[in-house]
Amino acid sequence: MKNIVLLPGDGLGPEVMAEAVRVIGWFNDNFDTKIEAEQGDIGGGSYDKHGTPLSDATLDKCRKADAVLLGAVGGPKWDKVDYALRPEAGLLKLRKELDLFANLRPAKVFDALIGASTLKPEVVKGLDILIVRELTGGVYFGEPRGIEKLPNGERRGVNTQVYTTHEIIRVARVAFELARKRNKKVTSCEKANVMESGKLWREEVTALHASDYKDVQLSHMYADNCAMQLLRNPSQFDVIVTDNLFGDILSDEASMLTGSLGMLPSASLGAVRPDGKRAALYEPIHGSAPDIAGKNVANPLATILSAAMMYRYSFNLSKEADLLEAAVEGVLAKNLRTADIMSEGCRKLSTSDMGAAVIAELDALKPKMAARA
Ligand code: IPM
Ligand code: MG
Repeated sequence: MKNIVLLPGDGLGPEVMAEAVRVIGWFNDNFDTKIEAEQGDIGGGSYDKHGTPLSDATLDKCRKADAVLLGAVGGPKWDKVDYALRPEAGLLKLRKELDLFANLRPAKVFDALIGASTLKPEVVKGLDILIVRELTGGVYFGEPRGIEKLPNGERRGVNTQVYTTHEIIRVARVAFELARKRNKKVTSCEKANVMESGKLWREEVTALHASDYKDVQLSHMYADNCAMQLLRNPSQFDVIVTDNLFGDILSDEASMLTGSLGMLPSASLGAVRPDGKRAALYEPIHGSAPDIAGKNVANPLATILSAAMMYRYSFNLSKEADLLEAAVEGVLAKNLRTADIMSEGCRKLSTSDMGAAVIAELDALKPKMAARA
């Protein structure tokens, strides 16, 4: 039996999570996945209930679980709350406490959605990029940080960008390993031209490549150039590895190449432990979208695809992951869309109808898969 924790969170989180739960149930009924789920609070909802965006009880559940699946956190309701108690702080604490240092953000263009991109179809067709973002270091967590009052009455805000050898090497290793299973190309991004932490990043990645990963093609790129190249010629990239802040920005940019923030899943992974397991958190990369929350219009596919990543990376259930991804593609190929990816000639579905459409597609694909096996 595998145990996972579901953290639906705020805004549209609970709605999209409900559809992922249906899918997980379908796999339990139809395959030998044996995944048992319990729920936990996180984010603004947790703050309202427990006075903290991540309680020790939730954290403890997540520590013991084989994987965590999260919806979204945050919303304007908590804008005035102290940074340390904001919904986002709960997510950052969870990443840090579980030491989820490697954040995998695939940006894949589905053929059926090619028209949804703001870029020309010939630029994004077949696009399949994986951003590996360092997630527990850098300016997000560096000390000193804070806002201080200066003697002259001015205020000063401080954050610190800091990386150690070990932090760079472990995330670069994840990127090289993943590249080996893809097109064997890694682009490492920093600002070595202006930042010492970037210079160190480049040197450590170069050394690791020379010692362990010569079979992978490595190139270095300044992060600003990478932002530009992602628009100019995104197909040049296979795996991009970068720090926490640049990764935050570049992954948002890469996601829009696909035209649909509502489609993109992510995985945040810790180190592989001696027992072969690793801490893992799966979440859609879109936010809580309070403006459309509670209306049954949100796109649940990013959360459903996050569950597929969970099957693949936490449970080695690649057949199930493939089937689930094929079901999502199948639904799109039938011109079924939620509002965010709606286009002419397609049928607009609600959140729950999209979940049902994925289940129907799974039902349809299952016998075909059995016949092939
Ligand atoms: C993300 C988000 C988070 C981040 C926020 C919600 C703290 O933008 O996961 O990309 O900045 O890491
Ligand atoms: Mg972000």
